[in-house]
Amino acid sequence: MNRRTTLTAAFALTAGLALAGCDTGEAAPQLKVDGAYMPQPVTQDMAGGFLTIKNSGAADKLTSVTTNLAKDVTIHKTVGNKMEQVTSLPIPAGGELRLERGGNHLMIMGLKDKPAKGDIIGIQLHFAHAEPVNVNLPVKAINYEPKK
Ligand code: CU
Repeated sequence: MNRRTTLTAAFALTAGLALAGCDTGEAAPQLKVDGAYMPQPVTQDMAGGFLTIKNSGAADKLTSVTTNLAKDVTIHKTVGNKMEQVTSLPIPAGGELRLERGGNHLMIMGLKDKPAKGDIIGIQLHFAHAEPVNVNLPVKAINYEPKK
């Protein structure tokens, strides 16, 4: 392949991706957040965040989480008994993304104040396609388990 055909192929691929990402509106994600909470953390350095994102529309991805109440929020998955930071998690079409104990979760680092039971931690979820969603994480007892 000479240089010109390589460039043409690269352009065709980019154009294809751009078209695929340009929705007409009929295949948009429809996201609803349920069961959000934060178990009361031991210190304000690190807290977990759990919730379920239900999607009655097209596939999307959770790409980042922000809050002005902490230094940083990262998205983690659990592999075996170790956790790994990931850049996104898929939210399948007509399915759900569960962030729960022992699985995928949010890691909230450097909270400005130590959360107490009954506090509300406001976060914002950002997606590849859908508009950002504001979520309140009520602070629950350290051993709280949500009803399934
Ligand atoms: Cu983690």
